[in-house]
Amino acid sequence: MTTMTAEATAQAVGLESVTKTYGAVRALDGITWSFPRGGFTAVMGPSGSGKSTFLHCASGLDRPTAGTVRIGGTDIGRLGEARRTRLRRERIGFVFQAFNLIPSMDVEQNITLPLRLGGIEADPAWLREIVARVGLADRLRHRPSELSGGQQQRAAVARALVTRPDVVFADEPTGALDPRTARDVLRLLREAADLTGQTIVLVTHDPAAAAWADSVLFLRAGRIVDELAAPSAAAVAARWDSL
Ligand SMILES: Nc1ncnc2c1ncn2[C@@H]1O[C@H](COP(=O)(O)OP(=O)(O)OP(=O)(O)O)[C@@H](O)[C@H]1O
Ligand SMILES: [Mg+2]
Repeated sequence: MTTMTAEATAQAVGLESVTKTYGAVRALDGITWSFPRGGFTAVMGPSGSGKSTFLHCASGLDRPTAGTVRIGGTDIGRLGEARRTRLRRERIGFVFQAFNLIPSMDVEQNITLPLRLGGIEADPAWLREIVARVGLADRLRHRPSELSGGQQQRAAVARALVTRPDVVFADEPTGALDPRTARDVLRLLREAADLTGQTIVLVTHDPAAAAWADSVLFLRAGRIVDELAAPSAAAVAARWDSL
C-alpha cells in the first residue's frame, strides 16, 4: 500500500488504457503512461498519430472513449463538469497548437485570463517576469490580430504559465518561432521543471526542441511505440528515422 501512495504522489498525470475514437478513427489506441512530477517529456510522431488528442485527454480538456486519466492522483473521469473545469484551471496550463487567444482582448488581458477566471489577482512581479521572458513587454496593449504568429505563440505560452500550474501541456509551442525565440521558450519550460518542479509535456516535430526534455515518447497510429531517455537531437532524429 505504501508503494501505491508513493506512486500516486510521484505521478503528476497517469493514463491507463486510454482510447479515443472518432467514428472509425482510433486517434488513441490504448495508451498507458505515467508522467513523473517535475519531469519534462517530449511527444513526437507523424501528423495524425494522435499527439494533440493525447494532450487533450491527458489534460482533461477532452474525455477519452475508454480508460482512466488521473491528474495528481484524482480520477478525472469521476468528476462532474464543474469540478473538472476547476481542477484544470488550478493545476493545468495548456498551450494550444492553434494558440486560441481571444481576439477582442489585448496581450495582457489574454495572458491574465486564467487568473481572472479563477478570481485571482495577477502578481505584478510574476507577470512582469514571464512577459519579459517571452519578450512581449512592449506588446501588452496589442490585440492578437496585431501580432506575428510567433508573438501570438509566446503570448499563449505566457498564459499557460501565469497560474504556475502543476502540469504544462504545450502543443508545438515553438512551431512558428525563430530558433532564438524557440530556445527562450524551451528554456522557460525547462526552468519550470527544474526550478519549480512543474511537469512539462511538449509536443514537437523538432529533434532539437525534443532534446530539451528528459525523455521523448514516440507515437504512431495512436500508440506509444518507443521512448528515448536523455535524448540528444541526433539520437532523436535517428530514432525518428527508424520508426
Ligand atoms: N475532432 C475530431 N473529429 C474527428 N477526427 C479527429 C478529431 N480530432 C482528431 N481527429 C483524428 O484523430 C487522429 C489524430 O489527430 P491528432 O490531432 O491527435 O493528430 P496529431 O498527431 O496532433 O497531428 P499533427 O501533428 O498534424 O498536429 C487524426 O486521424 C485526426 O484526423
Ligand atoms: Mg496536433
